Amino acid sequence: MTPADEFAALGAQIAHHDARYYQQAAPEITDAVYDDLKDRYRALAADLGIDLQETPGNDLTGDLPTIPHRMPMLSLEKASEGEDGSAALKLAAWETRTARLAEVAMPLALTVEPKIDGMSVSVIFTNGRLTRAVTRGDGLAGEDITAQVQASGAIPLTVPCAGTFEVRGELYLPHDAFAALQARSTKPLANPRNACAGLMKRKDATTVVGQGVQAFLYQIAWTEGVDLPTTQTAVSAWLAHLGLPVLCPQTVSGAEAAAATCSAWTERRAHLPYDIDGMVVKLDDRRLHDRLGSTEHHPRWAIAWKFPPERKATTLRGITIQVGKSGKLTPVAELEPVSLAGTTVSRASLHNFVELERKDVRVGDLVWVEKAGEIIPQVLGVAERRGDTPTARPTTCPACQSAVMTEEIFLYCPNPGCPAQVRERLKHFAGRGAMDIDGLGEAIIDQLCTVRGLTSPAQLFTLTVEDLAGLDRLGAKSAANLVAALADAKGRGLARVLTGLALHQIGEKLAQDLAGRFGRLAPLLDLARRHASGDPEPVAILDAIDGVAETTARAVLDQLAQPAVQEILTGLAAAGVDLTARATAVRVVEGVAGKSFVLTGTLPTLTRDQAAARIVAAGGTVVGSVSKKTAFVVAGEEAGSKLAKAQALNLTILDEAGLLRLLEGP
Ligand code: IVH
Repeated sequence: MTPADEFAALGAQIAHHDARYYQQAAPEITDAVYDDLKDRYRALAADLGIDLQETPGNDLTGDLPTIPHRMPMLSLEKASEGEDGSAALKLAAWETRTARLAEVAMPLALTVEPKIDGMSVSVIFTNGRLTRAVTRGDGLAGEDITAQVQASGAIPLTVPCAGTFEVRGELYLPHDAFAALQARSTKPLANPRNACAGLMKRKDATTVVGQGVQAFLYQIAWTEGVDLPTTQTAVSAWLAHLGLPVLCPQTVSGAEAAAATCSAWTERRAHLPYDIDGMVVKLDDRRLHDRLGSTEHHPRWAIAWKFPPERKATTLRGITIQVGKSGKLTPVAELEPVSLAGTTVSRASLHNFVELERKDVRVGDLVWVEKAGEIIPQVLGVAERRGDTPTARPTTCPACQSAVMTEEIFLYCPNPGCPAQVRERLKHFAGRGAMDIDGLGEAIIDQLCTVRGLTSPAQLFTLTVEDLAGLDRLGAKSAANLVAALADAKGRGLARVLTGLALHQIGEKLAQDLAGRFGRLAPLLDLARRHASGDPEPVAILDAIDGVAETTARAVLDQLAQPAVQEILTGLAAAGVDLTARATAVRVVEGVAGKSFVLTGTLPTLTRDQAAARIVAAGGTVVGSVSKKTAFVVAGEEAGSKLAKAQALNLTILDEAGLLRLLEGP
C-alpha cells in the first residue's frame, strides 16, 4: 500500500466510524482507537502535503498583552516541491488563475524571494519612530513585543519618514547567534526559529539585548500619510532607503521563470547563514493586490514554494516496540545517528505494524530518513536491502507479556497495570500540560518506577529527599528542588489533575470546562456514581456543557466511575493535592464581563474554542443554550436553531467581527 492508498483507506474507515458514531449512535471501536486513526490520518496528510484544513499556528503565550491587528496576518498558499516537479505545476496553475482573477495578461510580473523560517512580526512606525511591534498571535491579534524588538537591535528605532505605516516581516536568529545561545543555554534548543520566538517573548526585554536577533521586512500592510510606490520591488527599495533590513526580491516574468528561480535556491539555501523553508512568489504590481484580495486564510497575490524535505540514507540498527500510556504498541526505528535539517536523528516512529509491513524495512537495511521542517523524522523505506528477516508483529506486550489485542490497524496491550503504561501515564501526569512538575523528567520517572517501585501519581507526593537522592543524575540539591517542586505542584488545581489522569477524551480544554463547571471534584464524582447506578441525569448535565457531546459525557462519567480512577483521586486527595478549580487570569473587558454568550455555527477565522477562550479571558461566560438571560449570540455560517431562537427572543446577535470589536472594549 502506498501512503496515498493508506490515506484514502483511512479516510474511508474514519468516515465509516463517524457515521456509526454520529448518525447511528452505535460505535464499533473505542474512542482511543478512533483518536489513533485520526492521528495517523493527520500524520499521513502532513507527509503527503495535504491540507486537511489550513489552521495556521497560534503563537499566543498568554504572558504578554495582546493587541488586535488592524488587518489580519494571514498565511500563504503552498506549492510543495516533490520529486515530480509538482510545485512548478502548481505555480503555473496559480499564475493562470491569478491572471484570470486580476484580468491581466500572462506572463505576470512576479517577484521571488526567500521564505525566512523565523517569527512573523508586525511593526508600526509613526512619524519616524518605531512605536509598536506585535507577534502574529492567532492572526487576528498578537502579543505586544515592542520593548523586546526595541532591545533586540534587529530593526532601527527611527526612520526618515513622516506619517504612519505598518510593515511586516520576520524576526530570525542567524546560525552563529543560535549556536552561541545554545552554548549558554541549560536546556537544549529545538531550532533557531523556536529559540528566536523564546527570546522575543521574554518578559524582561533587557535580556534580549545582544542576542543577535535580526529581521527582514517584506510587506507593507497599510499606510497613513505615506505615498508608496506601486510595485513590490520598489517598496522593498523604499524600505531599504529608510535603512530597514529587506530581502532583495528578484523579478521574473511568468511562473516558469519563477519556478526555475525557486529551484536554483534549493542549492543556495545550504550556504545561507540563516534558515529558509521555501521561497515566496508575489505579484510585483501592488495595485493588483487590492484587486485580488485574500481568502480567509491567504492573500491571492502570493504563493509559497516549499522546498522538498531533506533526506538521507542510514542504517536501521534495530526495531524496538514502545508501549504508550493507553497501551498502544508502536514500532520504533533505532537508527545509526544521522544529521538532518540541523538536528541529529537516531530514532523515528514507524507508526504501526501495517506501515512497517508495507515499508518492509529490516534490521540491518540502509533506509531513507526524511525530516521536513519541524515535522518529526520519518523512515521512508529501504534504500538498500542489507538485512534478512522482517520484524514480526508481537503477540505479547514487551513490557508485561499480556497477549496483545488488535483494533483496526493498531495493536494494544490490554493490561492497565502494565508497567510500561503506568510509567507513560506518570510521565504524562508530570508533564507540561498537566501537573508541570519541574525537574521530574523521563529519566527520573523511569528510575522511580524500576528502582523505587512507583505505580501511582499519589506516591510521587510522598517522596522524600532521601528517596530521591541516590537516583542516577540526581544530586542532593536537585532532590531537594524536586521535593519542593512536588509540593508546589500540589496546588495546580482540579483542571490540571484531570488532564494529568490521561483519561480518554479528557484533554486540557474539557478538564478546564469540568473544573470550571463543578468547582470541586466531589460533585463530579457524585455524578459518576449516579451514572454508574443507571441514573440518566448525569449524562444530560455534562452534555449541557457547551461543546460536550453526549458520547463524551458518557465516556467521562464511565471512566470517573471506575474504581481504579477513584482510587488514584482519593490517593491524590490524601497526599494533599488540591482538587478544587483555580480561577484563570481574566483581563476584564467592559461590555463583556459578566455577560453570557452563546456560540453557534462556524466562524470565519476563530475556532469555537478560541472564541470561547477570548470571551472567558475578558470576563464573560459561554453557555450552551439560548435563553432570555443570554446577552449575546455569536453566529457564524450554518448557525441553526440557536440563531432562530435568539431571533425569536430578540437577543443581540453578533458576527465574528462584531465579537472582536466588543472584545476590544469601549
Ligand atoms: S509574504 C501572508 N514574504 O511565511 C502574508 N511571508 O506561511 C504575506 N514569511 O506568515 C506574507 N518569509 O511570516 C512573505 N519573504 C516572505 C516571507 C514570509 C517568511 C512568513 C510569514 C507568513 C508565513 C506564511
